[in-house]
Amino acid sequence: MVRSVPEPRELLEIAIEVAREAATTAYRMRSQGVSVAATKSTVTDVVTAADQAVERQVHDALRRLRPADAVLGEEYGEAGAGGAVRWIVDPIDGTVNYLYDIPHSAVSLAAEVDGAVVAGVVRNIRTGEEWTATVGGGAWRDGQRLRCSTEPDLGQALVATGFGYDPRRRQHQGRVLAELIPHVRDIRRLGAAALDLCLAAEGRVDAYYEKGLAAWDLAAGGLVATEAGLRVSGLAGAAAGPDLVIAAPPALFAPLHDRLADLDAAGGP
Ligand code: IPD
Repeated sequence: MVRSVPEPRELLEIAIEVAREAATTAYRMRSQGVSVAATKSTVTDVVTAADQAVERQVHDALRRLRPADAVLGEEYGEAGAGGAVRWIVDPIDGTVNYLYDIPHSAVSLAAEVDGAVVAGVVRNIRTGEEWTATVGGGAWRDGQRLRCSTEPDLGQALVATGFGYDPRRRQHQGRVLAELIPHVRDIRRLGAAALDLCLAAEGRVDAYYEKGLAAWDLAAGGLVATEAGLRVSGLAGAAAGPDLVIAAPPALFAPLHDRLADLDAAGGP
């Protein structure tokens, strides 16, 4: 039997439709007030009622539009299986920003075909800025094609990063940061990994790295960054993943990578 797998562009159109509706719900729920519904890995790793409601809404929309596809989400894990297409959703990336009403959180939705991300959208819940990408089709924000920074000098680079929720991991990440910061222009900790990757895609930061990202933090933003020309990888040729994600323009990649390798950025708990 011949499998019919949609083109990345068709998957992106579905992702955009679903992510926009999801962001509208998240925005409305934020304006009605937010409370913590549960905690996950640590007491500071919170889940709001909006995280849960938005992910349920995304699941329901995808079940209606693409009933045979699998869905992996931050709050409810994996659902469905078997087909070539899997959707990866972070209902609210930047949950702590969302909780504190800092306007820097996003819905992130990506489509994988046979394990490779081919389409993705990241939408800022408050500002409505929307970044999209398809594999081979470039990265875009609101009709503008994106190109990453061309900064070649690590000493001039503005580098974004983030921290996990586990205190022991944060301690290791803090040590890495303390050793890195004298060698870069400055550091930004903005609080939403998907948005960090999108900002790097348009040169609003020069590069980004973080240990501990989950698939839903990385999927859509990683494609946006790659399609904007960043190299997105782990250490020593490893794929970007939970051990480490480095997203840097080609000229910055080696100096940043080598510093992070020396500092054991992928190590620790
Ligand atoms: C977190 C944010 C944060 C990053 C953490 C992520 P969440 O995702 O992206 O910036 O530093 O590693 O876990 O919990 O807000 O969805």
